[in-house]
Order: sequence, then C-alpha cells, then structure tokens
Amino acid sequence: MARDPLACYADLRRDYGDVVRIPFTPRRTFYLLGRPEHAEHVLVAHQDRYAKAFTYRALKTFIGDGLLTSEGDTWRRHRRLVQPVFSRRHVQAFAPTMVASATARAATWARRESIDIATEMRTLTMDVVGRVLFGTDLASGAERIGGSVTRLQESALVATLFPTRARSLVPGLAAASDTLDDLVGTVVERRIANPHDTPSDLLDLLLASTGDGPPLTAREVRDEVSTLVLAGHETTASTLAWTFALLSRFPAARERLHAEVDEVLAGRDPRAGDVDRLGWTNAVISEAMRLYPPAWTIERDAVEADVITGVDIPAGSTVVVSPYLLHRDPEFWPNPEGFDPARFLPGHTGDRPRCSYLPFGGGRRICVGASFAQLEAALILATVASRYRLDLAPGARVRARAGVTLHPRGAIPMTVTARAG
Ligand code: HEM
Repeated sequence: MARDPLACYADLRRDYGDVVRIPFTPRRTFYLLGRPEHAEHVLVAHQDRYAKAFTYRALKTFIGDGLLTSEGDTWRRHRRLVQPVFSRRHVQAFAPTMVASATARAATWARRESIDIATEMRTLTMDVVGRVLFGTDLASGAERIGGSVTRLQESALVATLFPTRARSLVPGLAAASDTLDDLVGTVVERRIANPHDTPSDLLDLLLASTGDGPPLTAREVRDEVSTLVLAGHETTASTLAWTFALLSRFPAARERLHAEVDEVLAGRDPRAGDVDRLGWTNAVISEAMRLYPPAWTIERDAVEADVITGVDIPAGSTVVVSPYLLHRDPEFWPNPEGFDPARFLPGHTGDRPRCSYLPFGGGRRICVGASFAQLEAALILATVASRYRLDLAPGARVRARAGVTLHPRGAIPMTVTARAG
C-alpha cells in the first residue's frame, strides 16, 4: 500500500469485490468502497452519518480550521461565507488575470527547446492563485509560499500517522508551516488595515463576505486563505501536466484541440466567454481528470453505525471512496485505460450513474473551487495550445505519485515547437 497505493487499490478491488474490509490498526478498520452507489450513499444521501476522516487531521495542524478541514457549525458558517466568493460572476472576472499569467509564462518558453511541464504548471497555477487571492500584494512571497506548500504535502503521510509529532519528525516542516502562516498573515493584516475601495481580489471578497451571522475574523480569513493556496494550486497544476502529456501520446486529440482553439480564438487570447464554445478543450480536461483524478481518494469516518449495500460499517471505521477506481471501472467506461475525450462531449455522456465521475467530490463538501479550476484549466490549455505544440521528450517517462494528491512523479520533459502563425 505504501509503495504503490494505486495498484494496491486496483488489486484489492479486483481480488475481493465491491466492498473490501482492510484492517488498518487494532482500533481502526478501513472499508474500500468500489461502486458509484456507495459513493452516493456516503457523500450525498447519508452524508450526515460521516465526517471528514482522521486523515485530514494532520492538515489541520498546518493550515488551521479552513473549509477543507473543519466540521459541523464552523464548516457550515465558513462555507456560507466562502461559497459566494466563488460565484460564476466573480470567477469569470478573474479570467483576464489567469490569461495574463499564462501568456507571461508561455512567453518564457519561446527561447527554450525543452521544458519540464510539471514544474511549469505548478509555477503557473501558484502565480494565478497568488494574484487572484492577493492581487499584487504577494509578488515576492509567491515562490516561498509555493515551496512551503510542496513541503507540507510531501510530509503528509508522516503527518497523518503521527499528527502531534510531525513537526519534529520532518525536517523543515515546522519552518514551512510557519512561513505559510506568516506570509499569509502579514498580507491579511495589511489589507485589513488598508482596505481597497472596491474589491479587486479574492481576499477583498472574503473580508467583505457577510452571511446572516458575523463576518470571518482575521484569524479565520487567514486559515481560509492558507486553505485556498493549498487546495487551489497543485490540483489544477497536475491536471494540466497530465493533459499535456496525454495529448502528446494521442496526436489526433491534440490536432482537434489545435483546430478548435484556432477557430474559436482566431489568433487572439482566450476570454471567459469563449470557454462555453471550447467544447473539445473542456472534454480533454475532463478526460485527463478521469484518468488521473488529483483527488484520487476521498475518506470519511463513520460517526454512527451504518449499513452500505448490506455490509455493516461500525461507527468509527473509515470508508474510502476512490475516484481513481470509479473512473476506470469498465462497467461504466468502455476502454477505461484509453484517452477518449469524446465521452465528455455534450450528448455523449450516456447514462453513466451520477457518482461514477467524481473529480471534485460530491455532496455538500464538493470542491468549492470547481468552477474556478475548470475555467483556469481551459484558459491555460487554450492559451498554450494556440501558441505551441508540446511533445514528450524522447524517452520521457510519465509516472504517477499518489500522495495527498495524484501528481506526476518527478519531471515531465517536453519539447516546445512554436505553431505556425
Ligand atoms: C482540478 C482542480 C481541483 C480538483 C480536482 C479539486 C478536488 C477537490 C475535491 C475532490 C474536494 C472534496 C474533498 C472531500 O470531499 O474530502 C475538494 C474540496 C475543496 N477544494 Fe478543490 N479541487 C480543485 C481545485 C480547487 C481550487 C482551484 C480551489 C480554490 C481556489 C479549491 C478549493 C477547495 C476547498 C476549499 C475545498 C473544501 C470544500 C469544503 O469542504 O467545503 N479546489 N476539491
């Protein structure tokens, strides 16, 4: 399991069936749930019987009580205040910032023959999240924040197993956690002292957001901002890195993408309003997230005893829904290992069960940044595809690492060819 969790999940599912009971420690049992109706049961229909799993607790010690890690009334109040900030109107207003970041990054490739697309996408999505959250206030801190977030994620396993000792067990972890908290804290405090006249970034919107109760305190805003930095950059970066690697392996899909962006954009940069007309571009991203869902495992703890399709789930056990397994189940996905974006074109989605595709989770804990991520990924893909053809460098090996997120292991070298015109 520790060496290759993806293969382990797939083997367990194949060898033992729909629900697999995995003894984890003497006091904790895992249940790997293999079917869409199980996902629907846990995440949607009976979500009150489940809470975020103990595996999230470590994260809490680093980023505090933000949306990703909080529960109960705290979570409900925060979600009510944060969700409106991610409304379609606000998210679309960030499109020019997303495109400006993408064109600036892509311009640096013009003089290079080869790039590591995994690093490039991480740098780019960190830049986007930094600018969208904080405007220009963070210019010099973005790189340090990116480094801290990577460090926190790398140590997640140790932190999950030994939450109280993780800071002393992993060298550099305490420093990384403090850097993130200090940088975010400074920006938040400075903004509270000197508010903008009209909201220009997500931080302004968060500070101004009011539901039917009191607004978020400075400490709460700080935790939410750290959460958004953590949740909002590597997931999108991985999606894009996988997308470019897959397109290089499937040139017909890439040609169709190039034809679509040429036709819709006619040589200009993309805008938010173009995205609905970029049907193939969106389908390519959805298919990449099917094969490589960044959130490859979603875990919950049963707060009360439950029965799932006839299987007893004792209170206190941990249930695992794996988008990775569901997305590759041949019952719902013909040719499951193939890259076929057409399955996501409007009118082609067939009658797949609701929870057979869960890149953003489901139920009330569904990703609050889903439309932000989809818009960002489409705009970045269209910006790059209109300028360059990217090919995996000869001999490049694309391997997955299933940590907190499913991300590329190491570099993905790609050669850059400017597209004519
Ligand atoms: C392709 C990119 C992304 C993917 C695949 C993704 C996936 C997910 C998933 C599966 C969850 C639910 C986890 C669970 O139920 O345990 C989640 C939650 C969350 N995501 Fe995303 N995410 C992405 C991008 C973003 C972005 C861009 C942001 C913010 C800027 C964001 C912010 C959050 C937050 C705050 C939560 C917690 C929501 C809550 O519990 O109320 N995500 N994400």
